[in-house]
Amino acid sequence: MGGWCKTHLLSMRFLTREDIVYLLDKADEFRELLEASPRYRESLKGLVLVNFFFEPSTRTRVSFEIAGKLLGMQVVNVDVEVSSLRKGESLRDTIRTLARLKPDVLVIRHSQSGVPEYLARFSPFHIVNAGDGTHEHPTQALLDLLAIRRTFHHFEGLRVAIVGDVLHSRVARSLSIGLKSLGSEVIFSGPPTLVPPQVEALGARRVFPVEEAITGAQVIYLLRIQRERQEAGYFPSLREYATFFGLKESLWEKAFQNAFIMHPGPVNRGVEMGYGLVEHERSLVEEQVTCGLAVRMAVLETLVREGERIPCGEF
Ligand code: CP
Repeated sequence: MGGWCKTHLLSMRFLTREDIVYLLDKADEFRELLEASPRYRESLKGLVLVNFFFEPSTRTRVSFEIAGKLLGMQVVNVDVEVSSLRKGESLRDTIRTLARLKPDVLVIRHSQSGVPEYLARFSPFHIVNAGDGTHEHPTQALLDLLAIRRTFHHFEGLRVAIVGDVLHSRVARSLSIGLKSLGSEVIFSGPPTLVPPQVEALGARRVFPVEEAITGAQVIYLLRIQRERQEAGYFPSLREYATFFGLKESLWEKAFQNAFIMHPGPVNRGVEMGYGLVEHERSLVEEQVTCGLAVRMAVLETLVREGERIPCGEF
């Protein structure tokens, strides 16, 4: 592939292996730039980024805002609670209204799966999916892949165990698509109620119990327990979860110290992983956050500078 040929970033399913490597190479340059001085390059000066988050976020929203500003963009954060959506305006009419204000990129997080793809059908600006329901979170996958590549320098043959609330995890879905595309082995584990057989359609294996799943893994990727999406009791209590499915310091020290630990954040300390493991020297959790900034700079610059011209659609 000679360059980039996508208009929006909606799903890891729409990225080829070459697309992913292209974005990772570019993000790697930005990750180096973030250690330099000055840390900005105003390649998107004068353009406008709108952040539109219908669900809580710290890492994704703030890193998109900083990424845009480091590239010279003007950034607008829409406060959904005081927008006209609260007066009954439909999402479609809201997007039509925003279109008249001429933004260049809209970054959207929504609790309903498929909303970014729906909007992309008629949006005259670039859309970036910042997480839709239980479906996908492509920039999270890309930042995870960047952190892995900067640690191991390859993906082929790498074994990654993804542990926890797989059922509700857009992170698990996007990351496993990316890892499989790049040649890694993916294993899912956690409470059997939260790791449905359907995940094997992603080309991954399910292994129980957790201790067996993480044996031999180079990366142990722990998922957040998403209590806000859980309608039923999938496990008896958080204490039981921590005991049987969390990565405790004692379990870590027993046999798994050669692996690196990852987590998308926010971490429920003492539940998905032991309190002290977040800052452990084999933890990539904080590096993932900085990789997120680099990836979002790469995504914004690539979409705007190299994306296909956006058709006018129904506007
Ligand atoms: N990992 C992630 O999406 O974090 P935020 O919810 O803080 O954006």
